[in-house]
Amino acid sequence: MRKVEVISVNLGRRSYPIHIGERVSRIGKVIKELGLGKKILVITNNKVFHYYGETIKRDLEKRGYSVNIVKVPIGEKYKSINQAIGLYEKCVNCKLERNSTILALGGGVINDLAGFVAATYLRGINFIAVPTTLLAQVDASIGGKVGVDLPQAKNLVGSFYQPRAVLIDPEVLKTLPSREMRTGMSEIVKYGIIRDKSLFEYLEKNLERIKKLETNALQRVIVESVRIKAKIVSQDEREEKGEREILNFGHTIGHSIEAAEGYQGCRHGEAISIGMLKATEIAVAMHFCSPRLLLRMGELLKRMRLPTKPLIKSGVDEGKIYKSLFLDKKKKGGKLRFILPRRLGDVFICENVPFHLIRKVLQGGDK
Ligand code: NAD
Ligand code: GLY
Repeated sequence: MRKVEVISVNLGRRSYPIHIGERVSRIGKVIKELGLGKKILVITNNKVFHYYGETIKRDLEKRGYSVNIVKVPIGEKYKSINQAIGLYEKCVNCKLERNSTILALGGGVINDLAGFVAATYLRGINFIAVPTTLLAQVDASIGGKVGVDLPQAKNLVGSFYQPRAVLIDPEVLKTLPSREMRTGMSEIVKYGIIRDKSLFEYLEKNLERIKKLETNALQRVIVESVRIKAKIVSQDEREEKGEREILNFGHTIGHSIEAAEGYQGCRHGEAISIGMLKATEIAVAMHFCSPRLLLRMGELLKRMRLPTKPLIKSGVDEGKIYKSLFLDKKKKGGKLRFILPRRLGDVFICENVPFHLIRKVLQGGDK
């Protein structure tokens, strides 16, 4: 029998449970416990619906819910305001009310889009997340960042809107393509570096078990990651106190790589893998941390088959990366903010990384 672990995001009246290890087929039980209304709109895509949709629909109907399904085309480009408008129409047609529920069944794209619709339709209806990618399980479904992309940039329109509950079933990862698994693993490494030395060491020791999707090992790293994110969100929901910002370790350079590639190149977790290594190279050069940490991180990320190679050799346009970095700087009041490690489990925000050092690490050799 699998052990179900429940972790809470503690935000007063907006607190919610994250059920980890629960089967997707038991979502009806989770919803019933919350006493939500009888109408549920499941937002998903064809692929995820094919694997898990019918099971969920059956369970909900068995418990007396009226269920409608809407499928969004697959891909980041459909995390858009146009798709949201189509979904609002569906909400109207299904006669959703204030006590109705939108259930996101899918990866981060579905989570952010469905959450955005839930946050805005009728000024906010119930939102339940059933994340089906590793990235969505350990990151996107927790913390209430919902939104859509604009042609100018990702995630430009959105809100903080917390779900009523999250159900994480590690078993669904068995159908996930291996590249999607790797992109999620990158975020788990991130949690180890920013907050939890023992999680990092567990990954070092148990990577082969995790790669084989051994339930206990997989569930353990998901639980530890969720615990870290839930605690940070509980302390700094709206990213105003510096606490939540540390989740952006590896993202300053990582986001710039994604933008430089027009979001058509590497996956988010792959860009973050490079970004974490480059941030650590900066920390080593500024004598904040030891070269040994950089070495250990590089080894682990390589074993996960995440990219660690120098960017320029990977064919990324260096100029575009700088342009994007400076856009980021403008957004942050004229200063580029890097999250840098001191040691495993301990990072800080640094605003005075010299530009020549950023150039140097971006052009640097293989680590
Ligand atoms: P994704 O949602 O695009 O999913 C990746 C692919 O996996 C899709 O083709 C999807 O159909 C497929 N898939 C999903 N579950 C599957 C399963 N169990 N079996 C087989 N295939 C499955 O990608 P993602 O990496 O999950 O999410 C990326 C998005 O998440 C981005 O838009 C990013 O901005 C967002 N994000 C949001 C937050 C947040 O805090 N809200 C955090 C991180 C990322
Ligand atoms: N993914 C970063 C955050 O949720 O704050």
